[in-house]
Amino acid sequence: MQLRNIIAVAALGGLASAANNSTLTNATPSVDSGCSFSSFTATAAGQLQSVAACETAVGDVVVYGDSFRSIELTGLKQLYGNLAIRNASQATVVNAPTLQLVSGQLEVSGGTILSNLNLAQLTTVGSLEFNALPALEHTGLTAGLTSADSIVISDTGLSQLTGINVYKLKVFNVNNNKDIDTIDSGLQEVTDTLDISYNAEKVDVILNQLKSANNIILQQINSFQAPNLTSTNGSIAISKSSIEKIELPKVESAGSVVINQNDDLEEIDFSKLTSLSGALQISDNDNLKSLDGFNSLKTVGGTININGSFDNGTFDALSRVSGGFILKTDGQLSCSAFNKLNSNGDVRGDKFQCEDKVTTSSSSSAKSNSGSSSNSATGGSSQSSEGGSSSSGSSSSSRKSEGSSNVGKLASVVAAFAGIGFVLI
Ligand SMILES: *[C@@H]1O[C@H](CO)[C@@H](O)[C@H](O)[C@H]1NC(C)=O
Ligand SMILES: *[C@@H]1O[C@H](CO)[C@@H](O)[C@H](O)[C@H]1NC(C)=O
Ligand SMILES: *[C@@H]1O[C@H](CO)[C@@H](O)[C@H](O)[C@H]1NC(C)=O
Ligand SMILES: *[C@@H]1O[C@H](CO)[C@@H](O)[C@H](O)[C@H]1NC(C)=O
Ligand SMILES: *[C@@H]1O[C@H](CO)[C@@H](O)[C@H](O)[C@H]1NC(C)=O
Ligand SMILES: *[C@@H]1O[C@H](CO)[C@@H](O)[C@H](O)[C@H]1NC(C)=O
Ligand SMILES: *[C@@H]1O[C@H](CO)[C@@H](O)[C@H](O)[C@H]1NC(C)=O
Repeated sequence: MQLRNIIAVAALGGLASAANNSTLTNATPSVDSGCSFSSFTATAAGQLQSVAACETAVGDVVVYGDSFRSIELTGLKQLYGNLAIRNASQATVVNAPTLQLVSGQLEVSGGTILSNLNLAQLTTVGSLEFNALPALEHTGLTAGLTSADSIVISDTGLSQLTGINVYKLKVFNVNNNKDIDTIDSGLQEVTDTLDISYNAEKVDVILNQLKSANNIILQQINSFQAPNLTSTNGSIAISKSSIEKIELPKVESAGSVVINQNDDLEEIDFSKLTSLSGALQISDNDNLKSLDGFNSLKTVGGTININGSFDNGTFDALSRVSGGFILKTDGQLSCSAFNKLNSNGDVRGDKFQCEDKVTTSSSSSAKSNSGSSSNSATGGSSQSSEGGSSSSGSSSSSRKSEGSSNVGKLASVVAAFAGIGFVLI
């Protein structure tokens, strides 16, 4: 008893030391034929006794249906295979206090009134999935999981994710749990996808140890803290959230960054970000007035697509955008700095479009500008800042429809890409 308390506290303190122990999960022990199950499905309580009688069992076990009031697996310590407890809609209890390992997937799903899950000694799983367990308030992972490849928790009544102490995962997906309002984890690395979406109205996500992830998807969160995050291979997407600040000051590279529909967002800090292999999209964040959080960004492999009411912000270091550039702002921010980028040939791809309160600048190339070695030619002599208006190339100029008289300098500019402009001249 005392030992268990110590373990639990240690685990909470983030001292867990194993990740994905494939030595354990890939083992295939030999067992008596009575403990070897192949596609065994129990639909009545009595049928589970043969499984519970084995300390070590091999095979896939499914427990299914509404004839269970409780599911008793006391005695079973290790299952080499998958264990699924599905649609036991009349069961309030799953009792597996001796279970230490499930080498494949442990799935508990569709337990409408399941409120007591006892997995007191479970430390190792291949993957864990809790799904559609609205009455479940505690994970029941007393000792705490220290080894898993993938964890998916969705649509449960959990308010905390205690007992999940794995530092390296392929997948960490926590979605639609209406009572989870804080996720504070010692997770260090996610090799595939970290997805935290649509939990409690406002969830604070604290991942102080996270160093890298492949994809990060965050929706309907209140805050995100990942001060140690340095890179993501795939995308960082933060949307539909009440987050006020996105601060990822150590991230140096990422695939794409997508920041959409965060109504309360006022500040973005990606001050070390130098390269994106994919796109940068910032759109429909009603209170975001500044774009000055990307001061180190040099290269963007995909498209930059930004809209909003920006008053300031330039991309001082930006020297290469491979996939085109679209910026629309109805704040005080001017397109002039961005037009310069275009005329330098820093923007490639098939489209350049910048609309501020004053000007509309756009250009498009008919086809790829693959060999645009002539960047310096500044073919876009048609470039102009506000006030000027000229055009070249085949695109037609367009006047912005808003008749904002106080500005008085409505102008339309059509600028050709450097390479194309050169050809046209
Ligand atoms: C995995 O488990 C085995 C058996 O318990 C242990 O000897 C080994 O150290 C563990 N490996 C890791 C990486 O924790
Ligand atoms: C199990 O229950 C879920 C809802 O909880 C339902 O969507 C699913 O169809 C059920 N599965 C079976 C095989 O009855
Ligand atoms: C876990 O181990 C397996 C087998 O070695 C490997 O394929 C998998 O990528 C590992 N997962 C993580 C998250 O390291
Ligand atoms: C970053 O991680 C290190 C150890 O991995 C930890 O000591 C440090 O507290 C973390 N930084 C923050 C700001 O939490
Ligand atoms: C990064 O992404 C590339 C291509 O999508 C993939 O080949 C590579 O394995 C990924 N690396 C990591 C660490 O996820
Ligand atoms: C902003 O950009 C997004 C993505 O391109 C688009 O869906 C949205 O309609 C745009 N919003 C405005 C106000 O232009
Ligand atoms: C941009 O505007 C924000 C407020 O909207 C301000 O905090 C920030 O200092 C400004 N940045 C620059 C470079 O003027």
